[in-house]
Amino acid sequence: MRSEQLVRPRVPDGAADATAVAHPNIALIKYWGKSDERLFLPRTDSLSMTLDIFPTTTRVRLADEAEHDTLTFNGRPATGEAARRIVAFLDLVRERAGLGRRAVVDTENTVPTGAGLASSASGFAALAVAAAAAYGLDLDAAALSRLARRGSGSASRSVFGGFAVWHAGTTTGTATQADLSSYAEPVEAGGLDPALVIAVVNAGPKEVSSREAMRRTVDTSPLYEPWALSSKADLADMRAALSRGDLPAVGEIAERNALGMHATMLAARPAVRYISPASLTVLDSVLRLRQDGVPAYVTMDAGPNVKVLCRRADAERVAETVRGAAPGGAVHIAKPGPGARLLSEDG
Ligand code: DP6
Repeated sequence: MRSEQLVRPRVPDGAADATAVAHPNIALIKYWGKSDERLFLPRTDSLSMTLDIFPTTTRVRLADEAEHDTLTFNGRPATGEAARRIVAFLDLVRERAGLGRRAVVDTENTVPTGAGLASSASGFAALAVAAAAAYGLDLDAAALSRLARRGSGSASRSVFGGFAVWHAGTTTGTATQADLSSYAEPVEAGGLDPALVIAVVNAGPKEVSSREAMRRTVDTSPLYEPWALSSKADLADMRAALSRGDLPAVGEIAERNALGMHATMLAARPAVRYISPASLTVLDSVLRLRQDGVPAYVTMDAGPNVKVLCRRADAERVAETVRGAAPGGAVHIAKPGPGARLLSEDG
């Protein structure tokens, strides 16, 4: 399978109005821990699959004489931390563009926010593409990935479709060198025909943000460094498994990497625990499926929801199993999806 490439925005002339769409991604090799919080530099490389469901669509229009940015999220004014992050991101774009003009930003998000389903990844990837076009920045795919990273680390990967690896980059040298060294790029996955079955056991917002949780893990967990080290080996194994299209190997590596990440959090002080009893019930059901000969493997992020990697041909059966294990919760089937792209712009 070929990873889809980004549709590069045409740079508009003058005042602009641009709309972009991006999809969430789920990491098979996790990003957990930053080496620089301001620049969103990760401690380890990570690798993900962009999904074909739950898109975020973001429109950025430059305002004529406004003093503040106007932000709406699913038709309602954005507030609090979410608004602060978007304004900080726009400030970065303005600084690069040498333009002070405020923006009107409308975001339509279809993923349950804050439930460990990576809504910040699709959100900042769409915002990066739309804002870069609206403010007239001519950025290639790697530069857009770097820019998206400054809104949320995992957004760097949603710039690309299919599978993408995000390089941690270097921490030696200047801040500019470090910034330039950390971006995502597509990874080929020969012959793989995967699906990701998402069991939403709880769609509410999480209690501890991933930002706070990863900080606490890096600062206090004795298991963090060993996991980061093993994650390096996991990535090398994952790349090899992907290139030969070996789904059971991809699944096994993804599962061990994710469970290891959760182990680092459980050992943090105080512990961060996203795995709930309902998650464990789903995990058990996937284990039983595997014993029945269905190659299915779990991964989990900063929330209790469980994502199950399997062959596309097995997706319905896997969905049925996890639905039975987590009655009442929604179950979604995702396949590899497209990279972020510009829908329209009006110069
Ligand atoms: C567990 O990208 O949401 O989903 O960079 O602080 O915005 P910030 O964090 P975020 O963290 C994602 C963590 C993860 C693993 C992953 O997606 O790789």
